[in-house]
This record gives sequence, C-alpha cells and structure tokens, in this order.
Amino acid sequence: MEILEQIAQEAEQNTQVPAYPRSVEKVIAAVMSSPNFWKIVDLSDEPLPLVAEILKLLNKRDLVVFEGNQILLTEAGAELAKKLGIEPFASHRCPTCNGRGVVIDDSLRPAFEKFLEIQKNRPPAIHQYDQGYVTPENTFARVALADDRGDLRGKKVCVLGDDDLMSIALALTGLPARVTILEIDERLVNFIKEVSDKYGLNIDARVHDLRQPLPEDVVGAYDTFFTDPPETVEAIKAFVGRGVATLKGPRCAGYFGVTRRESSLDKWARIQKVLLDMGLVITDLLHNFNEYVNWDYYQEMRGWQLTPVKEPPKEIWYKSTQFRVETIRGFKGFNEPIVGDIYNDAESSTT
Ligand SMILES: [Fe+2]
Repeated sequence: MEILEQIAQEAEQNTQVPAYPRSVEKVIAAVMSSPNFWKIVDLSDEPLPLVAEILKLLNKRDLVVFEGNQILLTEAGAELAKKLGIEPFASHRCPTCNGRGVVIDDSLRPAFEKFLEIQKNRPPAIHQYDQGYVTPENTFARVALADDRGDLRGKKVCVLGDDDLMSIALALTGLPARVTILEIDERLVNFIKEVSDKYGLNIDARVHDLRQPLPEDVVGAYDTFFTDPPETVEAIKAFVGRGVATLKGPRCAGYFGVTRRESSLDKWARIQKVLLDMGLVITDLLHNFNEYVNWDYYQEMRGWQLTPVKEPPKEIWYKSTQFRVETIRGFKGFNEPIVGDIYNDAESSTT
C-alpha cells in the first residue's frame, strides 16, 4: 500500500477523524512551508487532532523530526516529498482585502476608528463559554460584507452570542434599524450596554442562554442574523437554527463561521446538508475570512494536549470560513431546548 494511504488509515483509526492521502500530503506540504505547529495546522486546513496525529506518524517513520519547538522534514521526508511531487504552499491572497473581497472604506472608517478605541476595554475571552473573538478589522469586515450584500440598511439585525462585539460595530455605523443581542455572558452584556448608553447606540442587549428557546418577541422578527456556533454538526444545527428562527420570512440572511481547524470535509458535507434541509441557500463561502485573536486559555484546551511540540501560538492560526445563507420559501428554524453536550466531537480541539 502506498505510504500516504497507510498513514491516512492509521491516523483515522487513532483519531476517528476522516483522513485521506490528500490530508497527509497537505500536512507534508505545510511542514515544507513552516516549522511551526500552529502554522502547519493553519496551512494544511485539516482538523487539529488529525494534523497532530499525522505528524506523530510521520515522525515514527523518520520522515519528520521534532527539534525543540520546530517541526522539520528529515532527509528521507524531503526525498519522499520530491518523489511524490509535493511542494510548499503558494499564497495568492489579495493583499488589499486579505482575501475577504471587501474593505473598510471611507464610509465605514469613522465608525471603525471609534470601534477600535471602544474594543480596547472588552472583557477577555474565557474558556467557560468557549469564547474567542476575531480581530477588530475582522468584525468590521463582516459589517462591510453584510452591507455589501444589502443586509443592513434599514434592517432589523439579531446577534446570537456576541464575543466579537458585532452589535457595537453594527450600531456604530447607524445603518440597521434595530440591533438586538442575546448573550449568555453577563460581562459582555454589561459592557455592550455601557457602550450603548455612552454612545447613544440604542442596542437591545439581553442576557440569554441560547440553549433555551428564544424570547418570544425575538422569534420571526428580524431581517438578518449573525452568530458564531460551536463546531459540531448538532451545535451548528441548533445555533444557526436559532438564528433562522429569528428571521421574518424568506429571503432574509444569516452570517456565521465554520472552521477547518475543527471540521473535516466529511463533517462539512453534513453541515451543508443540515443548512440545505433548513431551507437555506449558501450564497457565500469566504475561506479564512475570520481570524481569531489568540486566547489566553490555550493550555486548557484539548488541542494543547495533542500538539507534538509545546510551543504557544504566537501568530493567528485559528481562522474560519465565513458563510452567508439566505432563506427561501418553506425554510424552518430550530427553537427547541438544547439538551446534553453538543459541543464536542472527535474533531474538536478548542473546547
Ligand atoms: Fe482584494
């Protein structure tokens, strides 16, 4: 059996994460591009537990060596790569928009400058709620994206879970008719309320545990929603389903991220099917649109136990694809209570 196939099979057996020869190929290409574990996970676009396992298996076969905090191909590894025609990754991302397709231009700049100041005092991300927020540029790029798609002006917008402070960014632009947030973390709700009062933003901020059904007045009342669900199929169904339940009718829009760091393509296929089954159309998929600021609790997350070298992440490595969905006739949200642990599966690493 070919070696890539062999390693893929063994890795899948050990991790229960779907693995293909292409997965191994991508990890080797990533090692050729960077010696840093987090960068290798980023570049390979495979779930962290799988990348860690493939690296260990490559190491066992003397194709990869761990030197201090560096991950390097051995001579045999380099030879194998050459024989298989594996080359380092090449990037051609647009440097102006960072591949997002939208920019924070003059019309958004004054609101963005205010947001940059305001967010400096935000409460830190905590493990208890699986928090991790995107960069302020990123939050605003989402505003630009949603405005570009016609989902903000004069619209009622609901934000379900708001560690990214989307509600503040949205309200600062003055574009939406109404901004509501539902968030479990009182620290965040209080912060958003204070900012809203100080700047006259009129944000409707409420403490709400999204495992519970939505407040009645929120159901079927909005044009656009934003959320950032945990990365299991069940959680995406439940939390995106909640977002969909806030929408008024067909041709309303929703925004959320899904990451390759915690999702194999097999899982993505199931996620996409869940979305289609809810009566959603995926209108946009923007790879690595979202970039999460490294959080302080990385040593408590599952991924840290799995890393073959214990080097804290320095550069941003956790990124996600931005989804935009739109409802069509016959769409159906999800507003049942959520019971049991729907936050973990074999591919998750940050919980
Ligand atoms: Fe661009």
